[in-house]
Amino acid sequence: MKIVSRREWTLLAFILVYSFVPTFGGLLRIIELVGGPAVIPENPRALADSLPIVLHILGSFLFCIVGALQFMPSVRQHYPATHRAAGRMIVVAGCVSALTGLWMTHFFAFPNELQGLLLYWARITLSLWMVGLIVWAVIAIKSQNVVAHSAAMLRAYAIGQGASTQTVLGIGWMLAFGSEPLGSLRDGMMVSAWGLNLLIAELLIRKMVAPRTLPA
Ligand code: HEM
Repeated sequence: MKIVSRREWTLLAFILVYSFVPTFGGLLRIIELVGGPAVIPENPRALADSLPIVLHILGSFLFCIVGALQFMPSVRQHYPATHRAAGRMIVVAGCVSALTGLWMTHFFAFPNELQGLLLYWARITLSLWMVGLIVWAVIAIKSQNVVAHSAAMLRAYAIGQGASTQTVLGIGWMLAFGSEPLGSLRDGMMVSAWGLNLLIAELLIRKMVAPRTLPA
């Protein structure tokens, strides 16, 4: 694909590396749940109720990985049919990711050190918000409002990619302090990751999406 610039390949490679642990690591959980070897730390909630977590991992994988392609301007410009087909797929995948995340947040029995009230409410709010943004993005593009569509999808992607930022912060924490954060510290770290992503999304929208509304 000659039309894809080096900058776009770099951005794509960055997103793939950044999302690697929750996306590809998640596939290892699926392998375990379908009877394969257990190579990642045990998750008793996944063993007790595997369907939502399997759907969650598959939906999240597609949303993060295929979603990355949607940000490449050259694909949007030169392959609009591909952008539309991938878009339909990630609308479904993003909603599956968020709704199964919502389901697990409410119905899984978490010990307090893995999910306190702060994380519970953040997960409930953000998963509903992510679905709302995806639906809004679809409505916007149906009425040809490209700016509102791009801004809504970028915000939804930032919420989805919270899992990657949480992984990066968690690894950073373990390297700095030698142990996993738990309890309110963990809740705070998880929520900050979403805050950080949404902040970056707002900056990108101001820099790249919103200027398209200004007259030439
Ligand atoms: C609104 C967005 C999301 C919410 C509210 C959410 C919530 C959750 C919840 C409640 C669990 C169960 C955790 C447990 O049992 O310990 C979970 C598991 C998981 N999530 Fe998400 N999630 C979201 C998005 C994502 C995304 C986008 C990814 C991938 C990039 C992802 C990757 C995973 C993985 C791999 C697991 C399984 C962890 C394991 O097997 O131990 N999540 N998520």
